Amino acid sequence: MVSSTAPRTALLASRMRFEEKRLLEVLDRRGIPRTVIDTRTVRHHLHDTPPPWDLVLNREISATKALYAALSYESAGVTVVNSAAAIETCGDKWRTSLALRAAEVPTPPAALALTAEAAEEAAEEIGYPVVLKPLVGSWGRRVALLPDAAALRTVLEYSEALPSPLAKLAYLQRYVDKPDRDIRVIVVGGTPIGAMYRTSDGWRTNVARGATTTSCPLTDDLAKLAATAARETGADLAGVDLVEDADGGLQVLEVNHGVEFKGFQEAHADRVDVAELIVERLVLGIDKRMDREVGS
Ligand SMILES: Nc1ncnc2c1ncn2[C@@H]1O[C@H](COP(=O)(O)OP(=O)(O)O)[C@@H](O)[C@H]1O
Ligand SMILES: [Mg+2]
Repeated sequence: MVSSTAPRTALLASRMRFEEKRLLEVLDRRGIPRTVIDTRTVRHHLHDTPPPWDLVLNREISATKALYAALSYESAGVTVVNSAAAIETCGDKWRTSLALRAAEVPTPPAALALTAEAAEEAAEEIGYPVVLKPLVGSWGRRVALLPDAAALRTVLEYSEALPSPLAKLAYLQRYVDKPDRDIRVIVVGGTPIGAMYRTSDGWRTNVARGATTTSCPLTDDLAKLAATAARETGADLAGVDLVEDADGGLQVLEVNHGVEFKGFQEAHADRVDVAELIVERLVLGIDKRMDREVGS
């Protein structure tokens, strides 16, 4: 049924993956007016008249492009999911850690070092083995588990040789001796909708690296931590990564803004429909969100 109050929706993407196709299917089935914006065609003129949409579903894979598109649409009064602020926080592991720490969300000890020398000191303080991560990145790429100072020094030499000033900063995190899996919780509009285990032979358990996904019970603890992590990083749609530590506690590793949910959907078969919930809560729930923003 077409709702007269359905928000005029645009889906921004440069690639149509499983997730984008599912979202479009649900928008169409619900008769929500929608258009697709190919990121490759996007250009914003400073004096443009506002675009004719109420909401942009920001499905651009490149975090930089997603951020600048969000900034531009938001300045024209369009609601963007995820917002520029969320991308800025979640797209940067240190900013995410700062937000989690400020909200007292359990997260492993971590440090940001501004030089290679300081990184070596910080790693000694954290203790080996230590995890070195690029500040900006995903799919487990260049996330390195380093057994000792010699290994860290070698990797830092590579970082130093990279042209980007950001790449020379070292984000270090204490290694959590977890089982052969981690946990991903998807949070939509503040509500955790389910959890999955990502199990792998390697220590990096990203789906993009071949981890298998199975459903994980969404305990109160998991739900509370994930909801807080999503709220504190400003992500309306969040993929919260957690690990179980040796004491049975949960630690939040990071919060993702560009949430892929193919593996999650497979793990939940027909019990949870992620695209359906996104449309229900974030597209059709746009008024509630705007009230909240005005009220806050
Ligand atoms: N401190 C850590 N202790 C144990 N495992 C970790 C730690 N940090 C990352 N991992 C593993 O590596 C994977 C990728 O790390 P993550 O911080 O989520 O980066 P990315 O953004 O690339 O996914 C995680 O899903 C987890 O399996
Ligand atoms: Mg991750």
